[in-house]
Formats: sequence, structure tokens, C-alpha cells
Amino acid sequence: MKRNILITGGAGFIGSHLVRLFVNNYPEYNIINTDKLTYAGNLANLKDMENKPNYTFVKADICDFPAIRSVFTKYNINGVIHLAAESHVDRSIKDPFSFAQTNVMGTLALLQAAKTAWNTFDNKLFYHISTDEVYGSLGNEGFFTETTPYNPHSPYSASKASSDHFVRAFHDTYGLPAIVSNCSNNYGPYQFPEKLIPLFINNIRNNKPLPVYGKGENVRDWLYVIDHARAIDVIFHNGKIGETYNIGGFNEWKNIDLIKVMIKVTDRLLGRKEGESEKLITYVTDRAGHDLRYAIDSNKLKNELGWQPSLQFEEGIEKTVQWYLDNQEWLDNVTSGAYREYYKKMYGNAI
Ligand code: NAD
Ligand code: TYD
Repeated sequence: MKRNILITGGAGFIGSHLVRLFVNNYPEYNIINTDKLTYAGNLANLKDMENKPNYTFVKADICDFPAIRSVFTKYNINGVIHLAAESHVDRSIKDPFSFAQTNVMGTLALLQAAKTAWNTFDNKLFYHISTDEVYGSLGNEGFFTETTPYNPHSPYSASKASSDHFVRAFHDTYGLPAIVSNCSNNYGPYQFPEKLIPLFINNIRNNKPLPVYGKGENVRDWLYVIDHARAIDVIFHNGKIGETYNIGGFNEWKNIDLIKVMIKVTDRLLGRKEGESEKLITYVTDRAGHDLRYAIDSNKLKNELGWQPSLQFEEGIEKTVQWYLDNQEWLDNVTSGAYREYYKKMYGNAI
């Protein structure tokens, strides 16, 4: 059977890497990328895909049920990998409604479209991409596993938790063949520079303040984005229907330590004295409801499906900094216009 796979949010950060991996590795599949192209979606992320015969882009809002329903019919979709979402915690604190709209109602519209389009559920899969933030916050010890109870704190994580529940409800109630994976923080090329790593690289380059929330003691578990895309590939092909898989790099960093590493690497690659840009570090008011620590136990994925991260963090961060320095036009384009206005309103002149 020909695989016709709908990837939602394929013009965003993780989605663009996933589209590239699937289009290149599976020339026998049709990959249909549906994206609304919000501030975070950018077709420049997929320039090298434009002329590939197994790739199609359809601009649509996942909340637009008729539009999504017609994508299912027109392209005879039999697999979904759902990434489209509002994804930035700080934005969710300012504007929770758009997070509920896209992440909850949009996911529901997609589920309903799949359920009504698919006459039988044989050889079908709805694979939902989610975050470890649904599990809440850890203390100094322990890891999130697939059985950790949900305890989201931010409007972003609450909306993702709700979408995860809807996916499982469609599996349990209607038998929709579904899988969910929950991944830790990603980093790498094409990440919108409002998230910590690309924002700070860009600000170091421009000699702008580096706004560290609180004392910089929060801990995140960082995974190179292409390793996440590889995990999605493995789960899409070999994961068990109805299961959940946690994805993480066993790579925890306290924010301030990570920031100092980024400064060192960026200074070196810019030809500055290593550590010179530490003077840009500016401690600012903490994020409201800031989760202290995330750490993923991804042993189930390793033991059952054989996936593990391929890149060491030192190599990944070097590649990442180099990419942003080599792609300053991309950075300048995505940080101009509407985004710059929004950022000024939120943070003043920090970018
Ligand atoms: P992103 O913000 O870079 O990309 C999101 C994409 O979704 C954009 O292309 C945007 O245009 C599109 N989109 C937004 N609203 C839409 C709508 N209503 N209809 C259609 N398209 C819409 O996000 P990302 O970091 O690539 O995250 C992708 C997915 O992975 C999200 O579901 C996110 O929750 C999840 N995730 C992200 C991380 C991370 O560290 N970035 C970690 C774990 C899970
Ligand atoms: P972020 O990249 O927004 O990811 P998430 O909140 O989803 O984990 O933030 C990563 C960490 O960095 C988080 O603890 C918040 C912190 N942070 C800052 O200290 N300053 C910033 O300007 C940003 C964007 C984040």
C-alpha cells in the first residue's frame, strides 16, 4: 500500500527536519505538509524540498475542519504525524486562548477528520507529537517515565496535555490507531529565535542583553532536533498502537551552565575572546510558574525500539551555533517585522 503521510506543522522547527528526513529517506511515500504559516512557520526552512516529486505543501489551519477533511480526501491520507502547535511557553502566558484554539481544538479537528475519512482503521496511524512538559516539574531527583501522572503548569503544557488526552480518548473510544510521544527540549537549526538557544546565539552575535530568568537554575534536558526526527521515524514505523514513548537525550543542563557554554562557543566562532560575552548576561524577573526541572527517561524507546541519541551535546551545540552564524539572513528575516514588534512589547529592546 502506498503511504500518503500528512505531516502537520512541517514548516516549523522540528517539522521541517522531519519533512526533510521522510522526503529524502522514503521516496516511495507521498509527504503532504500542512501548515498555517504562523510567525513560527517558514517555507524558507524547506527550500531544498520544493522540487521533490514526493513532497506537497498545503497551506491550511488545522482548526479549519472542512479544509483538513479535504486534504484527507484529496491525498488519500493514511498516516498522520501531528506537530502543528503554538509552542512557546512565554507566549502562552500572554495569550492562552490561541494555545487552546490550535493545540486543543486543532488536534480535535484533525482527529475527527481522520476518524471520518478512514472507513477502516487497517494500516492507518495517527501519531501525535507532544512534550515532556505535560508531566509538570521535577525536584532535584528522578525522571519522567511514560507512567508519570500528568501535572502541567503553563497554559502551553496544559493545552498539550489536553491534546494528548483527546488522542488517547479517540483511541480508547473509537479504536483510532494512535501513538503519542513526549519529547524533551530540542535544539538545532531553524528554531525560531524566541526559544533560549537561538535567541541567545543571536543576541550574543548582536551584543544584546541575554535575559536569564530568575537565577538561571532551572534544568532542561536537551536533544538535537535531528535525533528527535530519527526517533519519530522509528516510532512511526515500529511503535505499538496505543502506546506512549518518551524521547530524551539524558542530557541535563542548568540554564546558566548551558548559557556559559553557548557564550564560549559563540565567542570562539566569532573570533572573540572566549567568555567575553558573559558581560551580556542580565538576570531578569522569573517566568511565572517556571518549572524547575525536566528530565526524561527514554529507556522504553531504547529497549523496545532500539533508538538512542546519535550526537553528543558538545558536537550538537557547536554545529548549532555555526549554523546560526552561517545563516544570519534567515535570522534577520524571521526577527524582522511583526515578530520584532511583539518582542519589543514583551521584553523591551532585548533583541
Ligand atoms: P514551532 O513553533 O517551530 O512550529 C510549529 C508549526 O506549526 C509552525 O510551522 C506553525 O506555522 C504551525 N502551526 C501553528 N498553528 C497552526 C495551525 N493552527 N494550523 C496549522 N499549522 C499551524 O514548533 P516546534 O518546536 O517545531 O514544535 C513542533 C511540535 O513538537 C509541537 O507540537 C510541540 O509541542 C512539540 N515539541 C516541541 C519541542 C521543542 O523543544 N521545540 C519539544 C517536544 C515537543
Ligand atoms: P525555552 O527555550 O523557552 O523552552 P521551555 O520553556 O519550553 O523549556 O526555555 C528554556 C529554559 O530557558 C527555560 O527554563 C526558560 C529559560 N529562558 C531564559 O532564562 N531566558 C529566555 O529568554 C528564554 C526564552 C528562556
